[in-house]
Order: sequence, then C-alpha cells, then structure tokens
Amino acid sequence: MSYRYEDYVESCEMLKERLGDFRPEILMILGSGLGFMGDEIDEPVYVDYKDIPHFRTSTAPDHKGRFVFGKLCGKNVAVMQGRLHCYEGYTMEEVTFPVRVLKLLGADKMIVTNAAGCVNTEWKVGELMLINDHIRLFGFGPLQGANIPEFGPRFNDMTEVYNEEYMKLAHDKAKELGIILRDGVYMYFPGPSFETPAEVRAARILGADAVGMSTVPEATIAAHCGMRTLGITVLTNMAAGVLKTKLSGEEVNIAAEKASKSFSGLIRECVKEM
Ligand code: HPA
Repeated sequence: MSYRYEDYVESCEMLKERLGDFRPEILMILGSGLGFMGDEIDEPVYVDYKDIPHFRTSTAPDHKGRFVFGKLCGKNVAVMQGRLHCYEGYTMEEVTFPVRVLKLLGADKMIVTNAAGCVNTEWKVGELMLINDHIRLFGFGPLQGANIPEFGPRFNDMTEVYNEEYMKLAHDKAKELGIILRDGVYMYFPGPSFETPAEVRAARILGADAVGMSTVPEATIAAHCGMRTLGITVLTNMAAGVLKTKLSGEEVNIAAEKASKSFSGLIRECVKEM
C-alpha cells in the first residue's frame, strides 16, 4: 500500500482541528528509554496515534504511541512519545508517515533521538553521540515507490541530512553543560535481532561508530522535504562482540534512563536556540 499526498493532508487537517491555533515548530522523536522527555512538556495536548487517520501505532516496549504537543523551553514542539520501527512489521513509508504530516503542520525542524550500540571502542556506555551522518547500505529506503513532488524531488541530496549549524550548537551546549558529546556515524540495521559480532566488525570497518534500528528512515524523509535535523544517540551498550556479555533490551532501557539527565539537559539547551 502506498500513501497519497491527500492522506498526509487528511492527517494534518485532523491535527489542526485538535490543536486550534497551536502549531509546532520542532518535531521531537524519542527513542527507546527516552520517552520521559514527553512528560516534561508544558501545556501538553495528547493525541494518540490510533486516533489519527492513516497512522500506525507503536508496539515496541516503553513506546507510548502518542504525540505530546506543547511547549519546551518556550518553543512549540510536537513530541513523539514512541516511534515506529520496521521490525514491528511496518513499511518504511508507514514508519515515516508522521514526519511528513508534521512538516505539513508547520514543523520544519526535527530532533531525532535513539538508543544505540556503541561500535567505537574508545567510547563508553552512557555517553551521548551527535549523529554527523549515517549509513544505510542495504534494502530499500523510505523513498522507494512513486515520488510525491509536493514533498521533494525524486533524487534528493543527502550531503547534509544532519544540519551543520545544529551540530555546532549541540557541541557548544554540551561544552557549556560539561557533558561529553561524541561525534559519529550511525549505521542502520533493521533488527529486531541485535547485530552479530561479525556485523559489528563490518560496521566498524565501514566507518560506523554506533549501530541501531531506527532514525535513518525518519532522517531521510526529513531531508527529502527540507527539514533541518539534529540527531542525538544515547550509547546504551557496547555493540555485540565488543564485550563478552550478551545484549538485552532491558539493559538498553536501564542505560538510557541513567543518561536521562544529560540527555534532557542537552536537548533543552539546543531547543532554545534552534
Ligand atoms: N544494536 C541495535 N540497536 C540498539 C542497540 C544495539 O546494540 N542498542 C540499542 N539499540
């Protein structure tokens, strides 16, 4: 099934009705263990994904499946408390549907966040990483199928998926806050299995610093429709094979929670100046 331009418009119109005069400027997508930031929004208006036409809902553990519209540090934001993943059985088109709807609603900036495995052996669990670029080598991307020219061109530029000004802003703010902010490349794996140690070694050779199962679909769609994106990763575990221990989803959530203070502090400071 393919979405038509009219489907995005219909979802956007429903949200406009619910939100009155409120229009979000920044879309924030919260990854595993990071949904707590949705509870820090002032004057919140909640809209469940299941109540929006054409939306799919998130099934991943800890993903609430709703928007929180409201204010963060004085800025109008739309927070996705729970995102969609392809491993839930959704197509990339379904996973990224909300991004285009929010673009139509007026958000031309995006903060995309995730929990990821750390491939770079010089870094530590619990540290944050600014995504400076990504790798998605195999399989089809979210722009497969008929292009919708209202959003962008058939062959879109991907040289600055993650906005350079935002990268500098994040580094400046991390420095002010005394937070370690690594700078690296995120490599997309479809999951839901964690990577094998051999895949992690391959990712390292290819230039990846972190591996994860999200973000790249949304960032690609945002680049296509001209949104400016800031990407922040919480390195919740050393990627498979780096240590002798086995990986679990539980470990990911615990580590994300531990990093919550620095994560929230950095996001807040960035939002103020985006
Ligand atoms: N791999 C993929 N996704 C992840 C990981 C990982 O090691 N940790 C958190 N999300």
